[in-house]
Amino acid sequence: MKALILAGGKGTRLRPLTHTIAKQLVPVANKPVLHFVMEQIAEANINEVGIIISPETGEQIQNSICSGENWGFKTTYIMQHTPGGLAHAVKTAREFLGDDSFLMFLGDNLIQGGVKELVTQFNANNSDALILLKEVTNPAAFGVAVVDSKQRVQKLVEKPKAPPSNLALVGIYLFRPIIHSAIDRIKPSWRGELEITDAIQELLNMNYNVIARQLSGWWLDTGKKDDILEANRVVLDEYAEVRVLGRVDKKSQIAGRVQIGSGTEIVESVIRGPVVIGDNCRIVNSFIGPFTAVGSGSILEDVGVEHSVILDKCQLRQVPRLEDSLLGTGARVNRKNSRHNALYLFLGDDAEVML
Ligand code: DAU
Repeated sequence: MKALILAGGKGTRLRPLTHTIAKQLVPVANKPVLHFVMEQIAEANINEVGIIISPETGEQIQNSICSGENWGFKTTYIMQHTPGGLAHAVKTAREFLGDDSFLMFLGDNLIQGGVKELVTQFNANNSDALILLKEVTNPAAFGVAVVDSKQRVQKLVEKPKAPPSNLALVGIYLFRPIIHSAIDRIKPSWRGELEITDAIQELLNMNYNVIARQLSGWWLDTGKKDDILEANRVVLDEYAEVRVLGRVDKKSQIAGRVQIGSGTEIVESVIRGPVVIGDNCRIVNSFIGPFTAVGSGSILEDVGVEHSVILDKCQLRQVPRLEDSLLGTGARVNRKNSRHNALYLFLGDDAEVML
C-alpha cells in the first residue's frame, strides 16, 4: 500500500496567508498541518509516499518535508502543473502509484485518531474503495454521499445545491487500482476540475463496491481562517503538554498545559494553557490566554491575547486585548501614542481587519 498526499492547489480561500505560504504548511499548534498528515500516515505503517505539489508552492513543501526520513518514508514529489482537480492529481501520480492500492490524504485535512484502523480494515476486506464520512451542518460545501444501512455507498455528488444527505466526504480515501479506469471515464465538472467524487460515482456505475466509514471524532478541513482557529483550539486541547524549555522569571505565572520553546523568555507575564509558544520568543508584561499559539521569534510586550494563532517573527506591542485572530509571519501590531484618534494601517493584499 502506498500513500498519495495532495499538497498542490492554489489555496485562495486562505488569502492573504497563502500569498506567501502553502495552505498545507499553515501551522496548527505551531506545527504545519502537513506534518500531522505525515505522522498519521506513518502510524498506519505505510512507508512509500507520493506528494502532489504545485509550481507555486512546491519548493516550500519540499523544504518542509525534505526526504521524509523524519517519518521513515521514501518520498516522491510529483509536480501537478495545473490544479485540475483531485482526480487529475491521481492521474498525474499514475506512474508513482503503479498497480498498488493507495491511501489518498488531502494535505489540509486532519482527523482525530488517525488512519491506522481504516487502512487495516481496507486491507482486510474486498471493497474497491473506502471513503470516510462525517455528518455536517453545511453539506453543500463538500462532496456528499448517500449510504445504505450496511454503509454501502449508493450515490455521491460534489458540492450539491440540494444535498441528498448531511454526510460529507472527509478528504481521506482508500482505493484499489481500478480507480484509474474510473478516472479515465469522467469529464471535468462545472468548476472545470476532474473530481474524485465523480470518479468514485463512476466506480459505482461500473458496479464496483464502495464502502463508507463514519468518523465520530473531529475532522478539521483547514481551508479558511475560522477553520485554522478551530483546528488550533481542538489540537491544543488534545495535544498540548506541560513542557517549559525557555526561561520563566519569578514574577510570571504559568498555569495549565503550556509549552514554551527553547531560548524563549517570559517576563512578568501570565500564560494560561493550553498554549504553545515557539523558540526564541520574548513575552513581556503580557497575558497569553487559552488556545493560543505563538510562533518562533515573536515578541509580545504589554499584550493580552487568547484564542489566536500568531505565526513566526510577529511583533505586538501595547495591544490590550486580541481574540480570534490570525496573524501571518512577520506581522506587526503597535500602538502609536498620539492624541490624534486615528488608525494607521499598512495591510497586505486581501487582509482583513475587524474594528
Ligand atoms: O475537504 C474535504 C473536501 O475536499 C471533500 O468533501 C470534497 O469532496 C473534495 O472535492 C475536496 O473539496 P475542496 O474543494 O475543499 O478541495 P480543495 O480544492 O480545497 O483541495 C483539497 C486539497 O487538495 C488541498 O490541499 C489542495 C489539494 N489539491 C487540490 C486540487 C484542486 C491538489 O493537490 N491539486 C488539485 O488539483
